[in-house]
Amino acid sequence: MVQRLIILGGQVARIAVFNQKGGVGKTTTTLNLAGLLARRGADPLVIDLDPQAHLTRVSGVAVPRPEASLYGLYAHGTPLAVLTFPTRNGWKLVPSHIELSKIDTRFGKGHGVLGRLDTALNREPPGRAVLMDVCPMLGVLSLGSVFAADGVIVPISSDYLAMHGAMQMERTLKALEPVLKKRVPRRYLITRYDGRRRMSVDVERQLRERYGDEVCATRIAENVSLAESPGSNRDVFEHAPDSRGAKHYMDLLDELLAADFIRLPENGTATAARIPSPAAGTTLQQQNIVRAAAAVAAGLRLVHGGRKSG
Ligand SMILES: Nc1ncnc2c1ncn2[C@@H]1O[C@H](COP(=O)(O)OP(=O)(O)OP(=O)(O)O)[C@@H](O)[C@H]1O
Ligand SMILES: [Mg+2]
Repeated sequence: MVQRLIILGGQVARIAVFNQKGGVGKTTTTLNLAGLLARRGADPLVIDLDPQAHLTRVSGVAVPRPEASLYGLYAHGTPLAVLTFPTRNGWKLVPSHIELSKIDTRFGKGHGVLGRLDTALNREPPGRAVLMDVCPMLGVLSLGSVFAADGVIVPISSDYLAMHGAMQMERTLKALEPVLKKRVPRRYLITRYDGRRRMSVDVERQLRERYGDEVCATRIAENVSLAESPGSNRDVFEHAPDSRGAKHYMDLLDELLAADFIRLPENGTATAARIPSPAAGTTLQQQNIVRAAAAVAAGLRLVHGGRKSG
């Protein structure tokens, strides 16, 4: 059933789906939340920030040249509207391209590069939900997505490095707080959960002990339909609507809506409400952004221009 909530703020919610750890379900989560938002009458804009371009591939969008992808924003300041493609899944995509992997070395030291996505999104018409599928590394793209986001969903795969990944993310987000002047709203999402496995149970217990209410009550199960659906360029709701994977992502969206982490508008044409925060309306100064990057770089031993450090 289509769910409608009354919107008060009238602004957009921008969600970055981010974990520095790879293969935890970021793209799976973005794909299925986007599909669900589209089915519920919203018109989400999805941004593929991963040079691996998995989501771009799944969406079936053919990018004629790097400049037609998100790369165009960084290389030439192309407005997002020009870089937006319709997809067969009912949402719009700003696609990725392998050329994005060079962003840090090409533009990493330039002023304002970390705030470029935020600035570009601010120029788009308000009133639309934005989902960002972030790459598993620290750099301009991932930090830029946090600057642009109202909230971050951190998928945590139920494996033995899960807590390590969660604590890395906690450190990264904490390092950005002085500049963003707020605690970044976040939800940790347990993915690939299998209650028969001791490891899954342990990961859940540790996460809930450490992060409390910031851990989604919904757990996404290990589910073959979720793994298979991208192979046919479909989300799980089209591929296997009765699967546990489909049910769990529906539960997740309902939970995020109930918690006001995402809002749907009453008319269903636009989407969500910006998550209110003490720093709402704050304009980030370019120098602050550069300083934040430096702080993160120092704190996490990130070498600018390099890939994720451990
Ligand atoms: N709940 C699940 N059940 C079964 N397989 C899953 C589930 N979630 C994700 N997968 C599979 O795990 C792999 C990694 O998932 P996904 O690509 O979403 O992770 P990611 O965090 O985006 O990875 P990367 O860091 O490389 O971008 C994929 O093959 C995906 O199909
Ligand atoms: Mg991915």
